[in-house]
Amino acid sequence: LRLTIAPGGGNTSSQLLYGLLYEEIYHSGDGGLYGELIRNRAFQGSSAPGRIASFQRNTDFWHPVGGVNLSIDTTGPALSDSLTYQLRMDIPAGTQGSVGFYNDGFWGFNVDTSKRYAASFYMRGDYDGDVECYFNNTLNGQKLSSSKITARQASSSRWFQYYFPTFKPTASASTPNNTFYFVFDGSKLAGKSVYFNLLSLFKQTYLNRANGLREDLAQSLADLKPSWIRLPGGNNMQGLSFGNHFKWNESVGPLQNRYGKLSTWGDIETQGFGLLEQMQMAKDMKLTVVLGLFAGLYLNRDLIPQNQLQLYVDMAMNQLEFLTGSTSTPMGAIRAQYGYPEPFEVNWVEIGNEDYLNNGQASYYSYRFMAFYNAIRAKYPDMNVISTINPSPSPDDGSGGIIDLHIYNNQNHFANLYNTFDQASRNYPVFVGEYAAIRTGTGTGSEIGAQTFGMACGEAIFLLGVERNSDIILGSAYGALIKQYDEEPNTVAVVKHTANELLHSMSYYLQQLFAQNMGTETLPITATEGGLGPVWWSATKTSKNTILKMVNYNGATGAANAVKVQITGSTASTAQLTVFTADSENSSNKLPSHGGDEHRIIKQTITAKDGLFEVAFSKPYEIVIL
Ligand code: AHR
Repeated sequence: LRLTIAPGGGNTSSQLLYGLLYEEIYHSGDGGLYGELIRNRAFQGSSAPGRIASFQRNTDFWHPVGGVNLSIDTTGPALSDSLTYQLRMDIPAGTQGSVGFYNDGFWGFNVDTSKRYAASFYMRGDYDGDVECYFNNTLNGQKLSSSKITARQASSSRWFQYYFPTFKPTASASTPNNTFYFVFDGSKLAGKSVYFNLLSLFKQTYLNRANGLREDLAQSLADLKPSWIRLPGGNNMQGLSFGNHFKWNESVGPLQNRYGKLSTWGDIETQGFGLLEQMQMAKDMKLTVVLGLFAGLYLNRDLIPQNQLQLYVDMAMNQLEFLTGSTSTPMGAIRAQYGYPEPFEVNWVEIGNEDYLNNGQASYYSYRFMAFYNAIRAKYPDMNVISTINPSPSPDDGSGGIIDLHIYNNQNHFANLYNTFDQASRNYPVFVGEYAAIRTGTGTGSEIGAQTFGMACGEAIFLLGVERNSDIILGSAYGALIKQYDEEPNTVAVVKHTANELLHSMSYYLQQLFAQNMGTETLPITATEGGLGPVWWSATKTSKNTILKMVNYNGATGAANAVKVQITGSTASTAQLTVFTADSENSSNKLPSHGGDEHRIIKQTITAKDGLFEVAFSKPYEIVIL
């Protein structure tokens, strides 16, 4: 095979090509990206098997210390109108020694001597004495840290918030098998009842932000070099059933005002990682935001009828003003009160999510999309408004018709999508807002949690097609982004986490390599001495470099089958070759403690012979970037 790359004549490439979909799904936020380490911190519950219909108010993940009784209580003054369920601790008469409780964390705690930790809690009740918090290694009973304060309060009617001095653990733990204790002087509490809420522990966060992000996970996202992010979802933004959509106004302001949300994916969220925290993350990572707006349609087909839709349009308009308005606007002033005086930039919105999946389609075309579109464009004429329904039949929505396509299928399906956008209408720009190879080969049935190198190669061929058509394909994002490994080992994600470790999937590295090697325009390629398949390709250029991406998909290997590459007009005698490879199509990355990454990324400099670069694949499945 010989490829001749033209010096120009292609399409302009979208600079939003590689992005992220963030939504709370299987502890991607709580217990994941959100830095809070205490699970069920405000007694909203934390998770329930399967999809849930109500909050599970309980003491799950909390355990008594020193013979006390723990229960959920709603009597007396609540901490706030939103957090009305509190933890009650009854201490038997005659108690001596330490009493209190400990928390399990989200599948344990990461204890790291190199980082600072900050703990706090709200308490109501008659207590004047010491309070200590510390990690305990459950494998050997070792106390790994301690921070102390003295609480001075003798009131059953008032809540006090206590902050422990920040501390560094005295010893690290090699596993997440650790618990976190809050203990009190039992002799001073004997025979009494005291109350607690919003018990909190943060490890040092990404960029040291208050109420911020888990550092290693956030850094992983930044390292992907994405250019855009859709937030706050996805099916979770849209909600499972009536009333369960993302209510942006309940996710902002002081933490004690955040009621929590029933996740579409079976968890109960604190909403500590709310709209403003998500926007701040996007800003910190310099990402263009695609703001997902609730469009009055739920995943289970519950529908807000046309005569009630205006309320939701108004909510969306308030949301936009809240994020983008100056402090002299009513909503912008509230944002400033919450600690964010600088308006955020929002130039893209998406109306709803996957409305083609249910009976929303008819209403979407007939009134839903346009109700939002008209209101938004009247106030923000330059706003890019994305529709969630693909053009079959074509939407007559007047928006320019930006479509969000979602593609989930097996590996070979993706490999077959190389040409899919070549003939697409140039009138309908597209975000492939969610894609993922969820099964190997031509597989049907269940998703594969252990994503293979072959699945990433299938996705890579699809992405070559995206890149070649990025005059109309504005952006792509993998779904889902983050999942908790213990909770969801059997479905796909870009990154999975445990309390101690991260698992970067093969798709993570693929997206990173493609994002790091993005051009500003495509370059036509002429193939001679062979054609497309089993080698697939795409070329782009920047002001300085020509970039060729090739995927070998069950193809030949070795020098005899090397692809000869000619870059027309180039006098370069050397080029950098990056090879993304693995032992086999079935290789799969693991958690570090389970064996670690099975892929390799090899960089080498190659030299042209007679104006030709020769690229030989070493494996039948391999991705190279020249
Ligand atoms: O994996 C992400 C989920 O899948 C999104 O919430 C939804 O839009 C899609 O079906």
